[in-house]
Amino acid sequence: MRLMITKSYEELSKLAAENVANIVEEKPNAVLGLPTGSTPIGMYKKLISMYSDGTLSFRDVTAFNLDEYEGLDKNSPNSYYKYMLDNFYGHIDIAKDKTNIPDGKAVDIYNTCIEYEERIKKAGGIDLIILGLGNNGHIGFNEPADHFSGITHRVKLHRETIKANSRFFNSIDEVPKYAITMGIRSIMHCKKIILLASGKAKAEAIKKALKEPVTAKVPASVLQLHQDLTVIIDEEAASLL
Ligand code: GLP
Repeated sequence: MRLMITKSYEELSKLAAENVANIVEEKPNAVLGLPTGSTPIGMYKKLISMYSDGTLSFRDVTAFNLDEYEGLDKNSPNSYYKYMLDNFYGHIDIAKDKTNIPDGKAVDIYNTCIEYEERIKKAGGIDLIILGLGNNGHIGFNEPADHFSGITHRVKLHRETIKANSRFFNSIDEVPKYAITMGIRSIMHCKKIILLASGKAKAEAIKKALKEPVTAKVPASVLQLHQDLTVIIDEEAASLL
């Protein structure tokens, strides 16, 4: 594991974007796994600037998002589809048919999940996945549990996740109770992983994930077992290490 502690969120975002850019420069048709949430916003902004400057192109990149809420229309202001369009895809030259996000409105969720995994496999697997971290140690929407999850699946969101994510909705009742997420096995199969965390609220989860024994109660702790993990966190998130 490579641990990089930055002075600020700004520096974290720059470092994360440089890591993504390096992969895309090395392999223009790279397959990326991408997160949502507040943490990666700065990274997306830097990547958009690199594209606007003409120093980076995403023309041949394929991307798979980690997760999506169940039941939200694609264009609902809180769908991750809309988030990606507004914060990244809408500002770069990635081909629309190379962007993949689980369909939260799918009628047959089970087959949608299987098909999502098949698409990842067909693309040659994910070269680099960027992960955010939930306050409870979740990655994607893989919540604390008794055992690690497998491939992409439907998940019931925990109360603390619903509460944490309610800041984006008009009221807590509007937050979907279920989601579709890549599983722990899907994440661990990615060739490279970058975990991002910023702020004091993530310090406890970072300590448990990186310094304590691997347990499904802290899903991010499984990343300790990955062969190519880079952790980029700011000083506040690192404060309990
Ligand atoms: C959501 C997403 C996660 C994300 C987490 C942390 O629950 N499903 O993928 O990592 O939020 O978000 P934030 O970066 O806003 O703290």
